[in-house]
Amino acid sequence: MSTATTNLNIPIADWFDPAEAMRDPYPQYAQLRALGPVVYAPTVARVFITNHEAVSEAEHHPEIFSSYSETNLTMMRAIGGRPMLRKDDPEHAQERKAINPTLRPKAIKNIWSPKFQETVEYWLQRLIDIGPEHADINKDFAAPIASQNLIDLLGFPDTVDVTDMARWSIDFIAGTGNLLDDEDIWHRCDTSRQEVDLILDELLPSLRSNPNGSITSHLLEVGLPEEVVRANVKLSISGGMNEPQHMISNMVWALSKHPEQRELLLNGTAQWGPAFEETARWQSPIGMVPREVVQDTEFFGVRLEKGTNVGLLLASANRDPVAFDNADAFDITRTSGGHLGFGSGVHLCAGRWVAKNAIADHALPRLYEQLPNLQLDSKRPPVWDGWVFRGLTDLPVTW
Ligand code: HEM
Repeated sequence: MSTATTNLNIPIADWFDPAEAMRDPYPQYAQLRALGPVVYAPTVARVFITNHEAVSEAEHHPEIFSSYSETNLTMMRAIGGRPMLRKDDPEHAQERKAINPTLRPKAIKNIWSPKFQETVEYWLQRLIDIGPEHADINKDFAAPIASQNLIDLLGFPDTVDVTDMARWSIDFIAGTGNLLDDEDIWHRCDTSRQEVDLILDELLPSLRSNPNGSITSHLLEVGLPEEVVRANVKLSISGGMNEPQHMISNMVWALSKHPEQRELLLNGTAQWGPAFEETARWQSPIGMVPREVVQDTEFFGVRLEKGTNVGLLLASANRDPVAFDNADAFDITRTSGGHLGFGSGVHLCAGRWVAKNAIADHALPRLYEQLPNLQLDSKRPPVWDGWVFRGLTDLPVTW
């Protein structure tokens, strides 16, 4: 554990404005990093860990920065149970091990990649049919593709529409971020949870007798209690749709703003894989992940008491100039790796390979192959939203 004993007083960022962060968090992240690696933000009653070194350190010390919390309960309230993401090892490891086989390279190559390809072709044609006057990459391409891929990965039946999965995901995420206890959000979460539970009431018995390679099937196969299976299915619904959706839209936006880099991809000088990783670093879909301090500690010179609510600022760590040359620039040819867009340590995103395959091997290359002149529509502006979860809600395009 990296500690310095000289400064035990925590810097206070009383100016941190979550409403401003919703519009654009990056200027405030730079100010937070300038204050130090560990900073208290009274407006959100949270200690922020701000730079790359400190966030990595915290991620690798779950015995101090725990994912299990009795106070950070919004995710549990939203999905009606405690999933692996809100547990520590060894409980977490048992559940994580169960879903890994669905998301490994071999399963991706043999099962998911052909399905993802089919899904992209279908929605690409729909996008083209909508036409250059009205098309929106986020609504007409990224959302349905991310949604259908997740329906397949979870082994949900064909009767589930892409709009159902999208609605459930949006509601669970809104619930996870519902720190102000908005009743309307809880109501939407409850409705979505009931709808998912109804599907699972039929799906679980059928998967018990006929297992397949899906996430839900693998969770059942290792003999986890049914409420744990249900909680982790709903965790996958919250994380497995919104983030890949944002990544597709964020990549299109980033490449549209940097046509010279898009050209490198189109003429084969640069590769889609590194472009995907650079987008995850530069416009991270998950800006902050919560942890709770479970033993009094001294961290980078600051005393943190047991029970402190902590936010690991992944998106800020990803713009840390100590870790990345010219950190604020989007550069798909950069050689410095190690971004934290998928977290790190034991909770490192379980779906990162599957997301990379779906997006960097299928969605983006095919989109630009079919529509090489794709660009932002100057008549219809894009809209960004969020900082804990951040992405484009509207990305109108033309060609
Ligand atoms: C580009 C898209 C994605 C991004 C940026 C992303 C990001 C993340 C991050 C930052 C975490 C760590 C959270 C923490 O430490 O508190 C995480 C965990 C997780 N992600 Fe993803 N994710 C993506 C796609 C997916 C997909 C497609 C799935 C499933 C199909 C998925 C399933 C999960 C699961 C199950 C966890 C919890 C892992 C654990 O607790 O061990 N993610 N993701």
